[in-house]
Amino acid sequence: MASVEAFDKAITNVKCRMKTIELKYFTGTGNSLQILKTCKDEFEKNDFIVDFSSVTDTKDFNYDCGLAGFCFPVHAFGLPRICRKFLNNPDVQNIT
Ligand SMILES: Cc1cc2nc3c(=O)[nH]c(=O)nc-3n(C[C@H](O)[C@H](O)[C@H](O)COP(=O)(O)O)c2cc1C
Repeated sequence: MASVEAFDKAITNVKCRMKTIELKYFTGTGNSLQILKTCKDEFEKNDFIVDFSSVTDTKDFNYDCGLAGFCFPVHAFGLPRICRKFLNNPDVQNIT
């Protein structure tokens, strides 16, 4: 399955770089939270250190992470404003 292959590729990529994984979500009814929590659990099962938080959380984001993952719902055919604002941050855009 393509998604499993993509996950394996992401795992290998991060393992090579030995850095933490940053996961950010925004959720209204809990779907996006549940999806990203599932990803978090899988990464942790594979011994990665995961930093998991909501976009509404003001805690620092580690821009030097090995992998950044976001899970947001579609609102009005696009991203919720708070998510767009977060992703437009130049520091986020410069994550390699
Ligand atoms: C204000 C609002 C606008 C939405 N707009 C769309 C939309 O344009 N297209 C769509 O497919 N779903 C839309 N949805 C549905 C959500 O994307 C969907 O229910 C999603 O799973 C909610 O995720 P959450 O539980 O993480 O909030 C909208 C939901 C809300 C509350």
